[in-house]
This record gives sequence, C-alpha cells and structure tokens, in this order.
Amino acid sequence: MPANPDARPPLDPSRLPSTVQIVDRIGSTNAGLAAQARQGAPHGTTLTTEWQTEGRGRLDRAWSVPERAALTLSTLLRPELAAADWPWLPLFAGYVVRESLVDTVPGVALKWPNDVLVEPEGHKLCGILVERVETPDGPAAVLGIGLNADQTADELPIPNATSVRLRTGEPADRTALLATLLDTLERELPLLDDVPELRRRYQERCLTIGRAVRVELPAGSPLVGTAVGIDDTGRLLVAAGDEVTAVGAGDVVHVRPAPVE
Ligand code: BTN
Repeated sequence: MPANPDARPPLDPSRLPSTVQIVDRIGSTNAGLAAQARQGAPHGTTLTTEWQTEGRGRLDRAWSVPERAALTLSTLLRPELAAADWPWLPLFAGYVVRESLVDTVPGVALKWPNDVLVEPEGHKLCGILVERVETPDGPAAVLGIGLNADQTADELPIPNATSVRLRTGEPADRTALLATLLDTLERELPLLDDVPELRRRYQERCLTIGRAVRVELPAGSPLVGTAVGIDDTGRLLVAAGDEVTAVGAGDVVHVRPAPVE
C-alpha cells in the first residue's frame, strides 16, 4: 500500500548546506532551477522538493514520484569545460550518484549513460537528466536527479524499479542521502578538470562495458552487439561483427546470455 506522506519526515534543512532550497511542491526541479540559472543563480545552488508533480525524464518521458517518498533534486554547475567535454556531464552525474550510494546500497551499479541500478536484478534506483541552460553568465548545467529513496514496491512506477528502502529493509533517510550526495559531488568535482581520469574511472565502474547490448537508437533499427568501451566524448562503443559504432544517445538494454541448459 502507498504510505501516508504525513507519516514520512520532511527534509531537514538543519542537516543540509545553506545552498539547498527546499520547496513543498514544484512541477519540475530542473525547470525551476533552469529559471534561477537564467536569473544568475550561482554554481552549487540546489533545489529540492517534497513533491515533484511534473517531473521530466530522459527521451521526453515523464518522471512521477509520490509525495515525500523520493529524493528529487536539481543542482547547478557552471563548469569551465571545453565544448567537446560537455557530453561528459551526464556520465559524471551518474558516477557521482553511484559513488554516493556505495556504502548504503549493496550492488549499486552504473549503466551507460547514467542509470543507477542495483545488481544482480538490474533494477533502476535513480534517473538523471542533465540539461544545458544558456544564461547571461555563460552556459550552465542543471543536474537533475531522481532517487527512489523511501518508496515501497507499490509506489514504484514499473516492476523493474527499486528503492533504497527496499534494498536496505529500512526507512530511507532522505536528508542523509542528499547530504552525502552533495558531499560526494563536491569531492568529485575536480574530475571535470581531468576528463581522461573521469573516463578511466567511469569505464571501470560502468557495468555496460563488456556486456551484450541492444541499443534502441533515436532513428533506425536497433543496434545489437557488445559494448567495448567509452570514447573520449562519452559515447558508448558497440562492436557488431567487424564494425565498432559510437552511440551518443539511445536506450541501452543489457542482453543477458541465455541460461546454460
Ligand atoms: C530518467 O528518465 O531516467 C531521468 C529522470 C530524471 C528525473 C529527475 S527528478 C529531478 C529532476 N527534475 C526533473 O524534472 N527531472 C529530474
């Protein structure tokens, strides 16, 4: 049964940095923070909410969560990145979220480009949507993060989703998850100045590498092959026959080998 939101504690601002804004309800934290970015909000501004009602997902999908159950936030970066390195931001965001959860959620893993899953089932724990915003002070990046925190099985939108609560067997402390996430982000930020190192660490942790995959491309028929690496702009390299194709966008399915009879 969906839990009563009043039975869940609200986020506790006293345990969070002063750069975090908490609002009771908002359509989309990404949209709200993008508007603030255009008005000059500084690097590090974070907007979170008790209830996001019109959440945006990747590939124009919706992202729905019950009140007070999920951790739903957007954080603003004003990175000094070469234009060619901007595609690394979504991968960096996934890397940071996974790092922030390794001590809390056993089996937490990263799937290209930035889905955070839990192994062995591969159930989705977190979705990330990074949006570039043009502002008078230059381009900014809104890192939108939707972490399934305290949801029960009935409150998850799809059967192959999971939550921190379901994996740990305990109510999730959303404030603690957010504080750890922001600490991890601050600690890992220097990686954006060293993209080769980011690429090395990302590849080491991304469970897509080495797997048989099917990629649903935005146009055309699916690409089926083996993921063999990430190129220097963050694209997934998929080998099929003698050809290696670099994929910049699309839904990746990890194809499980058929069980041995
Ligand atoms: C996905 O499709 O997997 C990405 C989902 C991203 C959802 C987050 S929740 C916070 C932020 N605000 C939004 O409107 N979307 C992102």
